[in-house]
Amino acid sequence: MAKKMLEVSHLRTKYITRFHEDVYAVDDVSLTVEEGKSLGIAGESGCGKSTLALSLMGYYFAPLHYMSGDIVVDGQKISGMKPDDVRHKILGSEIAYIPQAAMNALNPTMKIESFIEDVMHAHKIAMSKKEIREMAEERFNDLGLPADVLDRHAVELSGGMKQRTVIAISTILSPKVLIADEPSSALDVSSQKLVIRMMRQLMEKGYIKSMIFITHELPLLYNVTDDIMVMYAGQMVEKGTAQQMVFDPVHPYSKGLMGSIIVPEEGMKTHTLTALKGTPPNLKNPPKGCRFADRCPYAVPTCHAMQPDEKVFNTDRMYRCLYSVRRLREVYANGTAAAKPDDTAIFQ
Ligand SMILES: Nc1ncnc2c1ncn2[C@@H]1O[C@H](COP(=O)(O)OP(=O)(O)OP(=O)(O)O)[C@@H](O)[C@H]1O
Ligand SMILES: [Mg+2]
Repeated sequence: MAKKMLEVSHLRTKYITRFHEDVYAVDDVSLTVEEGKSLGIAGESGCGKSTLALSLMGYYFAPLHYMSGDIVVDGQKISGMKPDDVRHKILGSEIAYIPQAAMNALNPTMKIESFIEDVMHAHKIAMSKKEIREMAEERFNDLGLPADVLDRHAVELSGGMKQRTVIAISTILSPKVLIADEPSSALDVSSQKLVIRMMRQLMEKGYIKSMIFITHELPLLYNVTDDIMVMYAGQMVEKGTAQQMVFDPVHPYSKGLMGSIIVPEEGMKTHTLTALKGTPPNLKNPPKGCRFADRCPYAVPTCHAMQPDEKVFNTDRMYRCLYSVRRLREVYANGTAAAKPDDTAIFQ
C-alpha cells in the first residue's frame, strides 16, 4: 500500500475575531494524501479553503485557533506540537505552503538568492554560500527557470516568473507535502500553464512527495490532480477521484458546482456558478442541520434539522448528505426531491 504523506482526521479550527466572535471555518475535515498523489480542493469563495490550507500546517497564530483533530505528516503527528517546533522542524522541510497571492509577498529589495540562503540558515543546514548557489542553480535549471533569476530582485520579475520562483524557493528543501493555495489564479493563461507544468515537474522529479492544490477553477483541478475534495461552509461535502468528481458528482453541491462548468458541446470551461442560487451561510452561526440545506434544491425538513455525517460509498468515495446515494441518483433523474431521502430508519 502507498505511504500516507498527509493524514488529517476530524480537524476543527476557528477564527476568534477582535469582537470575540467565533468563526468555524474548518469544521470536521478529514483527508489523506498518499505518496506521489495530488489532492485538489475546490469550493466557492469563503468556504474555508485557505483556512484549511493554513490549518493543515499545524502552525497556529491569532486569529486562527486549533480546536481538535489530528494532523500526521509521513507518520509524524504535528497537531499538538509546540509552535516553535512546528516552525523549525516541519515548515519548509516536511510541509511547504504557498499562500494565496504569495508572489506579492516577496520582499522587493532582496535578491532571490538571498531568500534561499535564508531558508537554509533558518533550517540550520550547514552549506557554504557557494554550495547553496550551486544547489539552487541546479534546482532552478531542472525546473526550467533560468539560473540568472537568482541574481535578480522580485520587482524585476514578471508575475508568472515571480510565482514560479516562489514555488522553487518554497520547495527547495524537498518537502513531503506541498500545499499551494490558488498558485495560478492571478496569472495569464500562458503563465498559468508554466506554473502547472512546474508543479507537475516537482512531483515527477521527486522534489515533493505529494501535493494539495487549492483553486476555485474546477477544470484546472481535473487536469492537474488525482483526487478532488469539494468544501462547503468549512466542511468536506464530497471526495473522489478527479474523474468521478467531475463526471459523476453525488452531493447536490458538487453537482451544482460541476454542472456550472461542464458544457457538453464546448468541453470543460469556467463559468460562474449559475446553477447554484444563494450564498453560503455565515460561519459565525452555521445552520443547525445540513449547511447546504438552505440552497439545496432537494432539501426536505429533516435536512434543516439534522447535521449529516460523512458517509463512505464505493470503497473510497465520501460524501456528507442525509440522502442515500441511491435516492440522490433518483432525484437527479426525476428532478424533484424524494419523499424519503434515505432508506434508513430516521426517514421512515
Ligand atoms: N482573519 C479572519 N478572521 C475571521 N474570519 C476569517 C478570517 N479569514 C477568513 N475568515 C472567514 O473564514 C471563512 C473561510 O475563509 P477562507 O479565506 O478560508 O475561504 P476561501 O475558501 O479560501 O475563499 P477564497 O476562495 O475567497 O479564497 C470565511 O467565512 C471568512 O470570512
Ligand atoms: Mg482562499
